[in-house]
Amino acid sequence: MHIPELIRLKRDGHKLTAEQLRALIDGYTADKIPDYQMSAFLMAVFFQSMDPEELGTWTEAMLHSGEVLDLSAIKGAKVDKHSTGGVGDKVSLILAPLAAAAGLKVPMISGRGLGHTGGTLDKLESIPGFNVNQTVETFRKHVDEIGLGLIGQTGEIAPADKRIYALRDVTATVECIPLIASSIMSKKLAEGIDALVLDVKVGSGAFMKEVDQARELAETMISIGKAMGTPVRALISDMDQPLGLAIGNTLEVIESIETLRGEGPEDLTELTVELVVDMLDAAGKVDDRAHAKKMLYALLKDGSALEVFREIIIAQGGDGSVCDDPSVMKAADTKITFDAPQGGIIEHINAEQVGLAALELGAGRRTKEDDVDHAVGLILKKKRGARVEKGEPILEIYHNGTGLEKCIERLHAAFQIGEGPAQDKPLIYERLS
Ligand code: URA
Repeated sequence: MHIPELIRLKRDGHKLTAEQLRALIDGYTADKIPDYQMSAFLMAVFFQSMDPEELGTWTEAMLHSGEVLDLSAIKGAKVDKHSTGGVGDKVSLILAPLAAAAGLKVPMISGRGLGHTGGTLDKLESIPGFNVNQTVETFRKHVDEIGLGLIGQTGEIAPADKRIYALRDVTATVECIPLIASSIMSKKLAEGIDALVLDVKVGSGAFMKEVDQARELAETMISIGKAMGTPVRALISDMDQPLGLAIGNTLEVIESIETLRGEGPEDLTELTVELVVDMLDAAGKVDDRAHAKKMLYALLKDGSALEVFREIIIAQGGDGSVCDDPSVMKAADTKITFDAPQGGIIEHINAEQVGLAALELGAGRRTKEDDVDHAVGLILKKKRGARVEKGEPILEIYHNGTGLEKCIERLHAAFQIGEGPAQDKPLIYERLS
């Protein structure tokens, strides 16, 4: 196939055939198409998009560029959740054990943090000994016997996406709905799941700043799922302030354990429970949502979900005693407060700036090669809508001496304090299927 001709076709707004799209993915995965041609093609997609048929073929080709897990021997409904990413979003750590305690099988393959958003793998690695690199066989065993597995994307899962995503990252082609949707769905569908629930974030700390964009992304992923025969549900949820109170790896694991004990922040608990209800519903296990929610709150309160978390931590080499004593994980020794520069109502918190403030301390990575400092981070003392006095602490900074000045600069930019009122934003905007 003549690759410049395919680039030209897409550049000029034409529809590509299934054969042409597969040739691009297969050729790139096999190193027969160089980065510069794929980059040019991705930029053409950025401007000309893909229609649903093209997108289905493109996703399927990426999905089949590597191993597709076969979990059919595992009894029970295999359901996963994916979040488009945000600040303080530790939902996966609570949701996966909670869903397993409720009887689902959760084969969760997660990513690392990049830029202002955190990643589940980095959070899990705050737990001493926790190993996110498991063989597919062990992963399968954990999903079967414990009800969940928590691993990173292996080289065998959707390798085409792994390479294309890295290329998009350096060619300004990340912010493109068909490319984001196909990237996420190719990885998730390779998990061998029966259903998927998406948490599409919207707001200052999300990829999607506007609800219309978030809806378009959600609908695109739902239609890819439909075309592949996998039911997909989506929630559009608020990321216009951090979720929960903790930002930073160790601090987020501590908050997750508190939430698994039924003692977590209300927004984090509520969103997690709603997502698990949707997972159960997608698996055909919900007659009455209110009843399902009550059952899930009970699994948090009575410690069942926390026990599942302990089991998977131990199975993946970690120290299960963190569930009783989170101080086994070391938060940074030095703690200072960030105080309100003026009195008033917190009208707005720019979640992206808060995420970047944590990044300045070393909690995240600017490039994939960076190391993270698991011990540093932030704890919010006040959230949107709270009244504060001048000089009152609105946040705690746990640091190890790196990036403190820049962190504080970012925090000044993040908090808007005025006479109010704060904009009232729902935790969940919409539910789509
Ligand atoms: N997350 C992904 O996995 N892919 C994207 O393209 C964007 C976010």
